[in-house]
Amino acid sequence: MAGKSRPPRRGTGRSAFPGVSRKITCRPRIQTIDDHEVENNGADEISRADTEPDQDPAVFRLRRAAAFQVMYENMPPPGRGRGRCRRGAARRALASKTVSVDLRSDTVTRPTPGMRRAMAEAEVGDDVYREDPTVRALEEHVAGLLGHQAALFVPSGTMGNFCALRAGAPVGTEIIADTEAHIVTYELGGLAALGGVQTRTLTGLADTLALADVEAQLRAFPGGGTYNMVRTSVLAVENTRARDGGLVWPLERLDALRAITSAAGVALHCDGARLWNAAVAQEVPPGRLGGIFSTLSVCLSKGLGAPVGSLVVGDTDHVERAREWRKRLGGGMRQAGVLAAAGLYALRHQVARLADDHRRAGELARTLAAAAPGRVDPERTETNMVLLDVPDAGAFAARAAADGVLVGAAGPAKVRVVTHLDVDDEAIAHAGKVLAPLLADLPAVAA
Ligand SMILES: Cc1ncc(COP(=O)(O)O)c(C=O)c1O
Repeated sequence: MAGKSRPPRRGTGRSAFPGVSRKITCRPRIQTIDDHEVENNGADEISRADTEPDQDPAVFRLRRAAAFQVMYENMPPPGRGRGRCRRGAARRALASKTVSVDLRSDTVTRPTPGMRRAMAEAEVGDDVYREDPTVRALEEHVAGLLGHQAALFVPSGTMGNFCALRAGAPVGTEIIADTEAHIVTYELGGLAALGGVQTRTLTGLADTLALADVEAQLRAFPGGGTYNMVRTSVLAVENTRARDGGLVWPLERLDALRAITSAAGVALHCDGARLWNAAVAQEVPPGRLGGIFSTLSVCLSKGLGAPVGSLVVGDTDHVERAREWRKRLGGGMRQAGVLAAAGLYALRHQVARLADDHRRAGELARTLAAAAPGRVDPERTETNMVLLDVPDAGAFAARAAADGVLVGAAGPAKVRVVTHLDVDDEAIAHAGKVLAPLLADLPAVAA
């Protein structure tokens, strides 16, 4: 709170931290927000870093970077200059250890003791030389599970999507995806910024758009192309659909898309960050889903509980091109077997249990729908996510955080609640007890 009484000081113009003067202008805005000890601490730390000239330059840079991190994480979302800082609410709750249940995402899990043991005991080598036996075992295992020739271990789902897509999309071509797709919403325009390909979005690709209309959108030009129209190289789908509350694509629609894209000479890619959830929900082997696509990116660090890692999956040539893109992006890893071991462990021990996450999400959805009719649709809870319609998602998330339950704001009026490996029946029952009255307190939804 000390920072509140002092007038904001400007930066000294020292150049040790690029972009510092631009960021420091954020201070007055942050200081107008009430109840922001953490933010003010961040600002004070920057002031100290600026005004203590004798400190070691390395320490100076570290302190300043840490302070900006604190400020950044607590900044309100763009366009919300006043009011409580929503990300700060989760952070405060975590810091004060008042969180009883964290349902923001299925990425918040911690490796289990068995997984940690597998990591510690992993055989390793230099994977850039292709000498890490555990990475190779993971790649072979996943390729086999999904019915493809090859797979490539990459650090993240974002890199997996990028490498898989860019390896199949020549520069200057387009990738078509749903308007809500992760690749066009949360991957910071990487395909355009780094890959030289454009994305085009279709609304309702996953459900409402007629297949004939999807087909009509593919600009494939198999006979040689035109000189003035961009060519479609890939159609990308996401299964399960993260921004749509974990909905699963019907198999028939995917099969039909495969037929349409194959006929047009367009590749069909799947962002399968949660493909495992789809397979469990539809009670089909992962290979039934994998076999539909030309390429996939699948994640180990979402519902499966590994700390890191995704795989690009496809035919051998495609995966070799993806390997080049991984290296170009700086994603070549050395003794990555310690990470791959976590992935192998997750695939062997933590796939079937996703059914528990789905059951718990369904139970929670029904509890909340009973408390606040019209704000939750249990019919649309097919896997491990529950979407809540609320007037102000940030405010709702902050109220829940104050009561020890963390949920995510998935849009201005949409809250996302995600079940995962680290929450059991008791935790979900508790979350229901906290969230139900908060929802019931909101204005009733007109029937
Ligand atoms: C559907 C989907 N695709 C891709 C990703 C990207 O994964 P990562 O965060 O590992 O880059 C996510 C992340 O949550 C996701 O939900």
